[in-house]
Amino acid sequence: MAHTSTAVVTGGNSGIGRATVELLLTQGWKVVVIDRDISNLDAVRPELTAYQADARDPAAVENIFTELAGSVDRVDALVNAVGIEYVGTLEETSPDEWHRVVDTNLTSYYLLCRAALPLLRQRGGAVVNVASQLSLVGTARFSAYTASKAGIIGLSRSLALELAPHGIRVNVVCPGAVDTPLLQRQFADGPGPQGSLDDLAAMHALRRLGEPAEIAAPIGFLCGPGSSFMTGSVVVVDGGYTSW
Ligand SMILES: NC(=O)c1ccc[n+]([C@@H]2O[C@H](COP(=O)([O-])OP(=O)(O)OC[C@H]3O[C@@H](n4cnc5c(N)ncnc54)[C@H](O)[C@@H]3O)[C@@H](O)[C@H]2O)c1
Repeated sequence: MAHTSTAVVTGGNSGIGRATVELLLTQGWKVVVIDRDISNLDAVRPELTAYQADARDPAAVENIFTELAGSVDRVDALVNAVGIEYVGTLEETSPDEWHRVVDTNLTSYYLLCRAALPLLRQRGGAVVNVASQLSLVGTARFSAYTASKAGIIGLSRSLALELAPHGIRVNVVCPGAVDTPLLQRQFADGPGPQGSLDDLAAMHALRRLGEPAEIAAPIGFLCGPGSSFMTGSVVVVDGGYTSW
């Protein structure tokens, strides 16, 4: 890289976001993490800055980018990997739960794209929004989660069209089930709607869960110059989950 590029990774404290932070650091990026928990980022390296904030909070998100504008002249990539899982039937899903899931998984991505725009617009750049294989298929007892994740595709495709004149590419990555704290928490109390963790692994053509680094790799590609003709793309990285 001729210059030091700056990437903002939201949800960078854990799982897929964390693996993306590690990959981008090894590729020479300067990385800014936004997460409600930054406790795993203790071993701070000079090229890593972390902000603790709730990505659902418009003022908190705006403030971070205003502060960032004091130290960087542009942002080259924004990776949104904030997210929570939620399992519940329609009747179990209260309006509060619905809003918690949609605000965390979808509204936060809108807020983050909007707040990052002035810095992304400086030289153009890449936005990578992490959705899910469940953006593409239905799953009983996952309606709030799947609705939030399908919404990311609509948001991203529209932004791809709107931001192309500014040289900003917007793409989506849809991971299959990936072995992260989010997934481990979902199965902590035993089997769920998709059975056990082994049953879930078997729903993938490759008969296993993904590793965070296997999702970080295509995210890194979408941040970099190798994907310069890609925008509005939905990149499915799901071990064949949606190929049946
Ligand atoms: N793990 C999977 O099987 C899987 C599959 C498909 C999609 N995804 C998606 O990938 C993304 C990353 O998931 P993961 O498995 O790495 O999860 P994870 O729980 O390991 O990491 C998610 C991160 O987001 C942060 N976060 C959550 N809510 C936040 C908020 N309101 N404000 C700020 N930070 C917040 C958490 O603190 C955490 O660091 C999510 O969008 C998830 O929906 C995960």
